[in-house]
Amino acid sequence: MINIAVFASGIGSNAVNLAKTFNSGSRIRVALCLTDKEEAPVIEKMRALGVPTEYFPRTIWRNEPQAILDVLRAHDIQMIALAGFLCFVDDAIVKAYEGHILNIHPSLLPAYGGKGMHGANVHRAVIENGDTKSGATVHIVTNEVDAGPIVLQREVEVLPGDTPETLEARVHEAEYLLFPEAILKSLATMTETIEAAEPATEKTQPTPPPIPQSVDDAWAEALGVPNHVPPIPQSQPVYAPYDAFSAPSTPQSMSGRQPEMATAPQPVAPASQQTAMPPTYLVWSVLATVLCCTVPGIVAIIMSSKVSSKFYQGDIEGSQRASRNAEIWIIISFVLGVISQTLYLPLTIAGLF
Ligand code: GRF
Repeated sequence: MINIAVFASGIGSNAVNLAKTFNSGSRIRVALCLTDKEEAPVIEKMRALGVPTEYFPRTIWRNEPQAILDVLRAHDIQMIALAGFLCFVDDAIVKAYEGHILNIHPSLLPAYGGKGMHGANVHRAVIENGDTKSGATVHIVTNEVDAGPIVLQREVEVLPGDTPETLEARVHEAEYLLFPEAILKSLATMTETIEAAEPATEKTQPTPPPIPQSVDDAWAEALGVPNHVPPIPQSQPVYAPYDAFSAPSTPQSMSGRQPEMATAPQPVAPASQQTAMPPTYLVWSVLATVLCCTVPGIVAIIMSSKVSSKFYQGDIEGSQRASRNAEIWIIISFVLGVISQTLYLPLTIAGLF
């Protein structure tokens, strides 16, 4: 699980969008929200979504960055997203999370960036300059304002008659798609960088898997269960044909002593054989399970593939719907698998297989 912290100072619609986008999945989570404004609307909104949210006054942000770093570490934060955060981020934080802090800016940087360029100021300047295109940018935060490497941008049209408010609304809509996508892109790059830094020997010389000795061994290994059933010798029957109840009784058995059947030599079979299931049980039960899981499993894969395609088409709701459907089919597949596993043994014992 990758934990993201969002820093926000205002309304928090981007912070809320990130939490709603990521927190229903299981790989990335908005795990913390920090603000520099005690009355910021984002506080209640994020708490309502179950995201721990804390306020630190600007004096702390400026003079005690270690206090902020301590909270980030306590929540095991790996990435920070600045979503309308109007406070200075101290160098100590930028350094500690170098390359892992993203900021969203409501223009096509480098245009309309820098000091004083935020919110309505940006949109007003765009309209006054007669630009026909604006948009939003997600960039990596460095110690220069709005100047770090750009991760992704998204354009919007500036329409005739636009006011700063109408343009801002259109840019916001673009931001709701852009910011999650930029976070995913950065995380993918981070993962590639980590993999590339791993020692080459680990990649080029993988340990060869042990060679299975039989089909049963192979299945046992795939399932992670022990397979200790010894091979059955072909020349001897497993059980000696001895029927204690029809064995001839002796005077001793009539005299109140232990009956013959208790003292007669018992057929000797190893303990593992006395309780062993048929050796093909493992193979057939796994095949039964695989067959039961295949169809719902394929449906789950189709649904899963729709999640990202819908997401990149901008259909967040459709993506969430596909994600829910995929979950349902995965559960159906799992339940069918469990049922087939559970029923196989009694059906085998009853002689139906
Ligand atoms: C967004 O437009 C973002 O680009 C800028 O601040 C605004 C924050 O809006 N950095 P919200 O608080 O997320 O609604």
